[in-house]
Parts: sequence; structure tokens; C-alpha cells
Amino acid sequence: MIVAENLSKIYSRKASPALNEASFEINDGEIVGFAGLNGAGKTTAMRIISGIIVPTSGRAVIDGNDIVKQKIAASLNLAIVPELPMFDLSQRAIPLLRYFAGLYGLDKDATDKKIESLMKTFDIWDARDKKLRAYSQGMKKRFAVVAALISDPKNILFDETLNGLDPEGVRSMRMLMLDLKKQGKSVFLSSHILSELENIADRVLIIKKGSIIKTLDRSELPSLGSPSVHIVVSNPDSKIVGLLQEFGEVQQTGYEFVITDLKVPYEKAGLLNGDLARAGYIVTKFSVAGEGLEEYFLSLVGGSNV
Ligand SMILES: Nc1ncnc2c1ncn2[C@@H]1O[C@H](COP(=O)(O)OP(=O)(O)OP(=O)(O)O)[C@@H](O)[C@H]1O
Ligand SMILES: [Mg+2]
Repeated sequence: MIVAENLSKIYSRKASPALNEASFEINDGEIVGFAGLNGAGKTTAMRIISGIIVPTSGRAVIDGNDIVKQKIAASLNLAIVPELPMFDLSQRAIPLLRYFAGLYGLDKDATDKKIESLMKTFDIWDARDKKLRAYSQGMKKRFAVVAALISDPKNILFDETLNGLDPEGVRSMRMLMLDLKKQGKSVFLSSHILSELENIADRVLIIKKGSIIKTLDRSELPSLGSPSVHIVVSNPDSKIVGLLQEFGEVQQTGYEFVITDLKVPYEKAGLLNGDLARAGYIVTKFSVAGEGLEEYFLSLVGGSNV
């Protein structure tokens, strides 16, 4: 479990704080998404939590250990996949991974098995004998994920890890994060790919200019912003628009109807499906959706961030 208590970071007195009294937690078995424009403070928060930099004030606690005051105990339970992973590029993958495992005092045979399994999962096993210099950008990212997981950490931070991965890599990451969640680990993931956060996060924190301005629960995600109803009816007639207008503004395109400015609450819009069926209409598609995280996010944080 990760607890951030009133974390602030002032890099320069001339600039406003990069992080401003940010408090949040990532519980065991939870995936928490972190969304914010460029420069909002995501990497700063993650670097503080992982002990790379110290906060100006506030504290981060990993499974009960303060990352500054009990650094070793806290670090043993934590790993970060940095936004811009940096490794000694003259090294080959396996010796470097063995070295990282050695830092955690892990057994050699178990380590070698783990290295093979992780490198296969992330599809870089075939490149195991190459120097990291010869890895592509995406392969380096995959290597960074393997390196972070080698110690089987209970708390994992992924800073923009999806960025730069191909669709297969994104899918492997998604499966990995859901698997980590199933194992009861705490997963914190910053991403600009808001649809991905929408797909897997239990909660999404929205940060603007160093402050957490919103925490969205998974249950709130489908109904964000103004909802609309999308319907396709295979036997529309002249009366259908009148019926639909009781629910909101209706736009018709052939067999498709979109209702906006709903006059009924989001949860009740589904009742319209029954009304249509009772009136003899054949409904082949019916969906009620909010604007989605991206639209909502932009309405919340829109404008310049720096
Ligand atoms: N080492 C540093 N020295 C001075 N200022 C810094 C440093 N690192 C970050 N900043 C500033 O702190 C603010 C937050 O930066 P941060 O990297 O945390 O943002 P971010 O949300 O991760 O952005 P991005 O989406 O671009 O990765 C920015 O204004 C940035 O210029
Ligand atoms: Mg960043």
C-alpha cells in the first residue's frame, strides 16, 4: 500500500510548486490511474514516492515504511518503471538483470527462471544476448518493466509505461497490471492514454498544476459529463421522434437516433429501451454513455498547464 500525505515539491522558489499538498493512497489490490497534462506533476509525485527525490514537505509511506526515513525497508517493497528508463547500454540484458536481482539478495537459480519467464512474457527473450544499445525504444521499455518486476515488488509505479509500446506491448502491460492487482499488489500508473486508464483503473486521480483536483471512482467513469443515448431502430416511423423527444433532444440519421440533453437521470435512460419495444419498435442497438474520461478530463484541466 502506498500512502502520500500532503506531498509538496518546490524545485525553484521562482516557480510555483511542482507538487502542492498532494494526498492520496493506493490500496493493496488496486490499480490507480494518474492523469494530468504535461508538467502537471505526475513524474514528480512518482519520483518522490519511489525515493529518487525528496519532498519539500509531506511524506510517502510504503507498506508502513517512510520512503525517506526508512528508505531500505520501503524500497524493498517498491519498484518504478521510469518515464525515461536509463540503463548502461553497453550491458547485455541477462547479466544486468542478475545484477539487479543481486541487489535484492535473490537466489541465482530462481532469478534465472524469473528472468526467462519475464523476458518471454514481454517478448524480448530472443534479444537476450544483444547489448541494450541494440534494443529498439519499445524493447528498452519492455526491458525496464522486466527490470522493475525482478524483485517481485508489492508496490509498482508505472510512469507513462504504455507510451511507445506497440499494441501487443500495450496488451501485455494491461494483462500484467490486472494480474498484479489479482495478486493483491498496489499499482500506480500515469498515462496520457485515458482510454487505457478507463479500461483498467479502479480509480483515476486527476492532477492539475501540482494539485490533485479530482479522484474518480471506477463506478463513476461510465457516466462522466453529459450522457447521451445511442439507438438504432430497424423499423422507425413518423411517431418515433415524438416518443424519443420525451427523453431529450433528438437527432436522427437514417435508422440511428442520438438523444442528448437528457431530461431523465442517467440511470433511468435505459428504461427507454423497454418503451420502444412496447411500442413495437425493433431496437438493434441501444447504449447510454457519458462523454468518457477524455472529454471530462479536458473540460476539467483544459487550458495551459505551464
Ligand atoms: N528536476 C527539475 N528541476 C526543476 N523543475 C522541474 C524538475 N522536474 C520537473 N520540474 C518541473 O516540475 C513541474 C512538474 O513536472 P513533472 O515532470 O512532474 O510533470 P509530469 O506531469 O510528469 O509531465 P509529463 O506529462 O510531461 O511527463 C513542471 O513544471 C516541470 O518543469
Ligand atoms: Mg512525467
